[in-house]
Amino acid sequence: MKKNWHEDKIKKFNSIGGYRKPEPVKDSVKLDSNENYVIPKQFQNDILSSKKNSDIREYPLGGVERLIDTISKFTKVPSSMIGVGNGSDQILDLILSNFASRQTRVLTSNPTFGFFEERCKLYGIPLIAIPFSDDMKLDIENFLKQSKNADILYLDSPNNPTGFQFKKDQLQRLIKSFDGLVIIDEAYGEFGEYSLLNMVKSQNNLVVVKTLSKSFGLAGLRLGYFIANRKFTDAFMNVLQYPYPVSTITIESGIQALEKSKTMKDTVDNIRIERKRIVETLQKYDAFEVFDSRANFVLFDAHGAYKRVYSALAEQGISIRKLGKIGNHDGCLRVTIGTKEMNSKFLLAIRDLLG
Ligand SMILES: Cc1ncc(COP(=O)(O)O)c(C=O)c1O
Repeated sequence: MKKNWHEDKIKKFNSIGGYRKPEPVKDSVKLDSNENYVIPKQFQNDILSSKKNSDIREYPLGGVERLIDTISKFTKVPSSMIGVGNGSDQILDLILSNFASRQTRVLTSNPTFGFFEERCKLYGIPLIAIPFSDDMKLDIENFLKQSKNADILYLDSPNNPTGFQFKKDQLQRLIKSFDGLVIIDEAYGEFGEYSLLNMVKSQNNLVVVKTLSKSFGLAGLRLGYFIANRKFTDAFMNVLQYPYPVSTITIESGIQALEKSKTMKDTVDNIRIERKRIVETLQKYDAFEVFDSRANFVLFDAHGAYKRVYSALAEQGISIRKLGKIGNHDGCLRVTIGTKEMNSKFLLAIRDLLG
């Protein structure tokens, strides 16, 4: 190899840029990252008290297994079909870096989850990306047609950033007709219409990826999990995954959170109600085109005014996500559903600006 060969690699990596996180805005009403502030602070306090069970001088030997048994009780799927990771980001990354190559074609939507797209770019994995229609919907027939040309199917269901979710029978039909690896990312699954978790029992090529970051409101814990057939799970957990992929604190807190899943379910119900309020209120403005959502956020096109809307909100300490062009929509903004108070501040600021 040529001397200092690694310099070229560094240059290449830097030219890719990587996943762009939102700008930190101090003390903001944070509606930019699809986090969940609706979950009561008490829930966090309770699960953090679980650190009493931890001795962080030790590696968490047996900890992941206990965590997986708790996920098994929560999902009603055998432990042998469950794996965990440092956020679902890490699970997706390990699947991509080990199963895909420059010759592997990944079928997905455009837009799709930004981190996933960035990782494909990093590894030089080609994407076949099917665009959303003007009303931010996907056409199943396009996917069925293209599925013959692809080796991996990746769909986030519901999709980030559109909030779209295929009808369950359509997605099942697509998965059944696909003969490569299928990754269904259900990061927002609890806010949606259905989960395909149980399909894994009959569909050998399916991996369903989930997280505690969204519905459980634990993005900072960095805990994701997946459900897949036993052989995939063994290979992933025994060979691909690190020996200690999640921390002792994450294991103990994750177990506590899953055992208090009723709080999560109540939170999801609240978010659905608030989502409806936000969609219906934004729809009253002629300046906006608002897309229905099955997730904990809403996408809307503010057309030419999108930069002005974004900056005006930012000036008032309200942070949403500026996405800009998506397909034929030039001015897309995405707002996370927060607490009732946060949402009201957002809607009032919009009213002051446009009302
Ligand atoms: C579709 C999708 N998948 C996965 C993730 C990552 O979740 P985690 O926090 O578990 O890494 C996100 C986070 O925004 C997401 O939008």
